[in-house]
Amino acid sequence: MLAAVMDRYGPPDVVRVAEVARPRPRADEVLVRVRAAAVTSADSRIRGARFPAGFGVPARLAFGIVRPRRPTLGSSFAGVVEHVGSRVGDFAAGDEVCGMTGVKLGAHAEYVAVRADRLARKPAEVTHEEAAGLLFGGTTALFFLRDKAGVGPGTSVLVNGASGAVGTNAVQLARHFGATVTAVTSAANTELVTKLGADRVVDYADDGLGATSERFDAVLDVVGNLSIASGRRLLSAKGVLLLAVASLVDTIRARGNVVAGASPERVADFDLLLRLAADGEIVVVLDQIHDLEHIVDAHRRVDTGHKVGNIVVRP
Ligand SMILES: NC(=O)c1ccc[n+]([C@@H]2O[C@H](COP(=O)([O-])OP(=O)(O)OC[C@H]3O[C@@H](n4cnc5c(N)ncnc54)[C@H](OP(=O)(O)O)[C@@H]3O)[C@@H](O)[C@H]2O)c1
Repeated sequence: MLAAVMDRYGPPDVVRVAEVARPRPRADEVLVRVRAAAVTSADSRIRGARFPAGFGVPARLAFGIVRPRRPTLGSSFAGVVEHVGSRVGDFAAGDEVCGMTGVKLGAHAEYVAVRADRLARKPAEVTHEEAAGLLFGGTTALFFLRDKAGVGPGTSVLVNGASGAVGTNAVQLARHFGATVTAVTSAANTELVTKLGADRVVDYADDGLGATSERFDAVLDVVGNLSIASGRRLLSAKGVLLLAVASLVDTIRARGNVVAGASPERVADFDLLLRLAADGEIVVVLDQIHDLEHIVDAHRRVDTGHKVGNIVVRP
């Protein structure tokens, strides 16, 4: 099969498309013919070995110290079941599914082998491209806003970095849960985040957050330019600071009303997000869709730090 592979860490062009062996699903796994896979900020971080301050060593222990242990990136994907392992009862060949592969990665390929309990059924109303784009940012936004801050009716939420993969989901989910949403983005994306449901937009090039005297019940930072101290200044008395990007030091120091860390990948969350997308409650913002052979262009776009929503490749 064809897969995007990389033999070393580095810029986008370390990735190339090559013929590799098709994965063989174990008894509890499903072999999926990938129709779409997201190229995410996490893929870009791993490829470039660029991690938040202090995470370089732990990340290299996970992904390969000198060179990538897993040559094919990609976690969030959608596709069609090709074959199921002997102990898999819930899925059959031909089923449309989507999921996330966690640290195993491997989704930037024609086929991926995934544990059956990491898969959700893809509703017909959601395209493969939308499903692949939705899961990465959607699960992160759900984890921080719903699970860690209890965002609900009457709460106020600030999303710093509102136009990326996590941000576009965060704005819509906060709104869906009944919150009032303030979005921080650039002028170019003001119209988009307003359409997604932001009640107020702050242009980070203008006054930015330093000038605001407002206080919020939840502050979600997906840019990485808030510290624990600067983020806390934006909180209401019951407010929670949610650092989706944090240094190792801030991650260790995060307690009480400060939350940092990695969001989990749960099928129940995939199902909820897919249902909301199928019902038109949230839309999946797709910036670019590339064929797998143009994956270097996809990585280049992600590396700008200015993608709008999601980038997807079609193997
Ligand atoms: N903790 C976790 O579990 C977890 C999970 C997923 C992601 N993350 C992290 O979250 C971060 C964001 O991920 P993502 O996939 O959403 O990134 P992304 O899609 O690449 O986000 C890019 C967006 O950030 C905006 N942006 C850039 N500079 C900004 C600024 N100063 N203020 C406000 N917005 C700004 C850009 O908007 P403009 O074009 O308008 O500048 C762009 O739309 C990454 O660092 C990723 O590693 C953490």
